[in-house]
Amino acid sequence: MSLKRAVITGVGHYLPDYVLTNKELESYVDTDDEWIRSRTGISERRILKEPGKATSYMAEKASLEALEDAGADASDVDCIICATVTPDYLFPATAALVQKRIGANNAFAFDLSAACSGFLYALSTGSTMIESGRAKKVLVVGADMMSSILDFTDRTTCILFGDGGGAVLLEASDEYGIVDYVHNTEGDEACMLYQPAGGSIKPASEETVKNKEHFIRQDGRSVFKKATEGMADVSLEIMERNNLKAEDVAWLVPHQANERIIDATARRMGLSREKVMVNISHYGNTTAATIPLCLYDWKDQLKKGDNLILSAFGGGLTWGAIYLKWGK
Ligand code: COA
Repeated sequence: MSLKRAVITGVGHYLPDYVLTNKELESYVDTDDEWIRSRTGISERRILKEPGKATSYMAEKASLEALEDAGADASDVDCIICATVTPDYLFPATAALVQKRIGANNAFAFDLSAACSGFLYALSTGSTMIESGRAKKVLVVGADMMSSILDFTDRTTCILFGDGGGAVLLEASDEYGIVDYVHNTEGDEACMLYQPAGGSIKPASEETVKNKEHFIRQDGRSVFKKATEGMADVSLEIMERNNLKAEDVAWLVPHQANERIIDATARRMGLSREKVMVNISHYGNTTAATIPLCLYDWKDQLKKGDNLILSAFGGGLTWGAIYLKWGK
């Protein structure tokens, strides 16, 4: 029996309508459009403002679109993995809410927490299910409502993030799909980027709310340094061990945290800017959603057989890269 690969057969996305511009942020915190654009590459981001709608809503919309794109039926999906750090509830899993709403009645569903690397971890997890033959169709979702954990009085974090969701369907292929992955975790740096309260170490209390401990905290400068090194290191590692030269790579699909991190990664890989997917200007950092949102935005430019390097860095600390041959 020949080993199968997991290939992406459908891509979907969801972005909220509300556009939060740098200009509007100037009215909340002491910042300015020029500072944000020159330090991060971000001009605007989307915010989910409709009451009663949260991460599962964006995940559901993206999933339905991915299934439609693949021409697949929800009832044929074997597993749903939702990468998120902003689930609707701590439990049940957001993936379970999606499973019900899209009618994937034969799928088991779970969430995966790896912050900005979540989509890559979920993609490689899903791919092993396909490769082993245990599953025929796996829906991999990355969705985050970062606005739900942002302190809009903290200029060092609130300018960076946005809300959004993306999804892909994985199916088996003899030829195309995920070839290799590299994943790393450095747990001793967990507090470099985290949400201090709301988990079991510090359950919600009057004090945690007063101290704004349910919002994201980060040591921006240290994360920047680590991310710049980490994303380039894993991208080069995966190229080297698959004998890929810069000219063999059709696209770099980088996590969108900061345009300067993306540029540094592309530079070390020897890639020209035309080969790099960059949409941070419009969406900011949507955490687990950045990579599928790039795939969605560029899907009409992708050709069968294109070599893609997906690369991400995030809280945990977590980072990784995936090498895949586009096969849609
Ligand atoms: N507007 C204006 N000034 C700001 C500001 C803002 N939104 N945020 C910070 N500043 C100020 C700082 O207070 C500091 O002032 P000081 O020199 O008087 O102390 C100055 O700008 C420089 O701050 P610094 O943190 O060194 O800036 P930076 O060039 O490192 O950029 C980040 C800050 C957050 C944009 C950058 O560190 C970054 O992108 N880090 C990675 C964050 C990230 O991607 N996290 C998710 C990981 S996946």
